[in-house]
Amino acid sequence: MAHKTRVGVLISGGGTNLQAIIDASKSNRIDARVVFVGSDNPKAYGLKRAHKHGIPTFVIDYETIMKETRGRPLEDLVPEGFDLERVLAGQDLLHASSNRMKAQRYFCTRAIAEAALLREMATYPFDLLVLAGFMRILTPYFIDRVNTDPSQPRIMNIHPALLPSFPGVDGYGDTYRYGCKVGGCTVHFVDYGEDTGPIIRQKAFEITPDDTIDTVREKGLKLEWHLYLECIQLFAEGRLRVVSKTYTLENGTEFNRKVVEIAT
Ligand code: GAR
Repeated sequence: MAHKTRVGVLISGGGTNLQAIIDASKSNRIDARVVFVGSDNPKAYGLKRAHKHGIPTFVIDYETIMKETRGRPLEDLVPEGFDLERVLAGQDLLHASSNRMKAQRYFCTRAIAEAALLREMATYPFDLLVLAGFMRILTPYFIDRVNTDPSQPRIMNIHPALLPSFPGVDGYGDTYRYGCKVGGCTVHFVDYGEDTGPIIRQKAFEITPDDTIDTVREKGLKLEWHLYLECIQLFAEGRLRVVSKTYTLENGTEFNRKVVEIAT
């Protein structure tokens, strides 16, 4: 049997994208197999979906970790090798200079949770980590330990909007409330910002006057299931390459951006 790309999946909720990936891998529509499903939420229904298919699961309960670390000296709890200054310098999530205490607490508690995630994941070797409705931001501490070769990112996320519009937790809701006439979904590699990484592919759908927030979500999700499979397959075929582009704007300033090239 040809080598199948080993996919680890992180979820927080219902897991319909996870289901699409499991189904496609079982029926050989993608050259991939799911080797673990992890969640930050013990109640995530997606964990049941994984059990049904005999896929190993684990939970790192972020809420409990946050509660247990409250009021305790974080420097005693952070994982070995955690370098706060390095993370603060690399991240693109919080303005650390304006509220250092807040940023310190945020990144230390996340590193504690992420170290636990990494420990669980170490049991299951994987080629690609897929975020399928994982509602936690990953920090540079975690990203650097998965992307050991910076030129070959291997964490993918699906976002319910046409990025760079509407990053954050409610992409379809934000799209609908803004009055957009087109909505969509995006698969991108994860970088140090929130939904800012290099875009792999996007799909769009029309929003008509009779749409509601629910029908917009429904239309979007259906597209997501196909989009994610396409992107995982491109990864499995080794066709994704991240390259740095520099453009000189008319006023002379330079614009730099990492973009994904898809080999034909
Ligand atoms: C999907 O719409 C996905 O795009 C979104 O969560 C939903 C998960 O659905 N992800 C995010 O908003 C990430 N910021 P699912 O659990 O049924 O796959």
